[in-house]
Amino acid sequence: MVKMTDYQGDAAKSPLELFEKLTEQGDKVRSLKSAKAEKAEIDAAVQLLLKLKVDYKKVTGQDYKAGCPPSENSLGSENGLAADGNNDEGDDEVNPWSVSTNNAKGVDYDKLIVRFGSSKIDQALVDRIEKVTGRKPHHFLRRGIFFSHRDMHQVLDTYEKHKSFFLYTGRGPSSQAMHVGHLIPFIFTKWLQDVFDIPLVVQMTDDEKYLWKDLTLEQCHQFAMENAKDIIACGFDVNKTFIFSDLDYMGASPQFYRNVVKIQKHVTFNQVKGIFGFTDSDCIGKISFPAIQAAPSFSNSFPHIFGDKKDIQCLIPCAIDQDPYFRMTRDVAPRIGYPKPALLHSTFFPALQGAQTKMSASDANSSIFLTDTAKQIKNKINKYAFSGGKDTVEEHRKYGGNVDVDVSFMYLTFFLEDDEKLEKIRQDYTSGALLTGELKKTLIETLQPIIAEHQERRKQVTDETVKRFMTPRPLNFNL
Ligand code: TRP
Repeated sequence: MVKMTDYQGDAAKSPLELFEKLTEQGDKVRSLKSAKAEKAEIDAAVQLLLKLKVDYKKVTGQDYKAGCPPSENSLGSENGLAADGNNDEGDDEVNPWSVSTNNAKGVDYDKLIVRFGSSKIDQALVDRIEKVTGRKPHHFLRRGIFFSHRDMHQVLDTYEKHKSFFLYTGRGPSSQAMHVGHLIPFIFTKWLQDVFDIPLVVQMTDDEKYLWKDLTLEQCHQFAMENAKDIIACGFDVNKTFIFSDLDYMGASPQFYRNVVKIQKHVTFNQVKGIFGFTDSDCIGKISFPAIQAAPSFSNSFPHIFGDKKDIQCLIPCAIDQDPYFRMTRDVAPRIGYPKPALLHSTFFPALQGAQTKMSASDANSSIFLTDTAKQIKNKINKYAFSGGKDTVEEHRKYGGNVDVDVSFMYLTFFLEDDEKLEKIRQDYTSGALLTGELKKTLIETLQPIIAEHQERRKQVTDETVKRFMTPRPLNFNL
């Protein structure tokens, strides 16, 4: 049994000694896990490991990376270009392809901020956004759904000096079926577009999905067009929004491709291996793809919008799993003479079965789709939404429910805008006054109209509308 008292604090140790201790402790965590040791024992070992990592960072100024002794571990810049997709040391797994944790409350986002080297969106930042925009902060900001950022203060500084910036977000079109979780970044991006009154570019990475999935080019392109309709249905202003498919725009825009090539020249295979975990047997399309997701961060990739201006600040709202792409982007930006994009990161939208993983379109029962009927929504929530309630009404009344693991409650934090109502539900559920069935009913009644209205707006989006959004053209934009 590992006790915290075994660990006396090793800040005085040499980097190499610490590194060896970390390696040893990482092995220990792994063997405890594979031996299915008791949870308390694994937790204690993980705790110790984390403490060692903090000390390591203190001593070396670098993030610990398994297998890379301190002297060789110099790849990282301020952005910490380190492999963090790996899950060796008991951390939550968070990378562009997979999200999982052992914790029913979901990923530990505070830990993720430390690991990724980003900054927390604290109350001071939320207050500042309110002051600068003169608008009540979106409930995603008030409730920590967008919880982490890079350089948002700098964006606000720029804006206060009456200089504009632009928004960039994207979507990997892997199927027709989008679920409610996919809407989160777009709902928030639409709010940002409205309050700051700025242009937006949306990248549809149909090329990425072709490279990663067993799909044809035509299927991926078709999904991009269909998904664009759902994105447009979020209410974006056609005069301020450019949506593009990589398969179409890469060939049509010499400036875009020039930026892709510049980025490709400044990132080595070693670096993308470290960041994304690519191996020698990954196809070269995957290996060079990150440059394509990086390129829209630079304003001169869109001459029809920004002319040849290369210094317009970019802000990227995205789910935190996309951060590796943009750590890479921020690392290359100054080396090719461009400003680093700023970022706002969101948490994941949990699967119906629980916050151990995010909602996934490939598992129909884990998701509420934008095409679901009112009845399907009701049935799925009643049948699958993981409950933090007690097994019997008597016990529930006596002990109360646990909102921290209750998926219906989590969904309400995303979709129920009324703060007071939400707080009352939290209290009543925790005290046992509100039963699981009643909580689910509130969620069903909140979600049904939201989805129905989305479907109604999507019906209005014609092929003609899609074409307007996707045609390269000037946007309304005051520099
Ligand atoms: N790779 C993302 C996905 O699979 C799509 C994407 C491209 C994106 N550019 C982006 C997401 C910028 C957020 C921000 O969904």
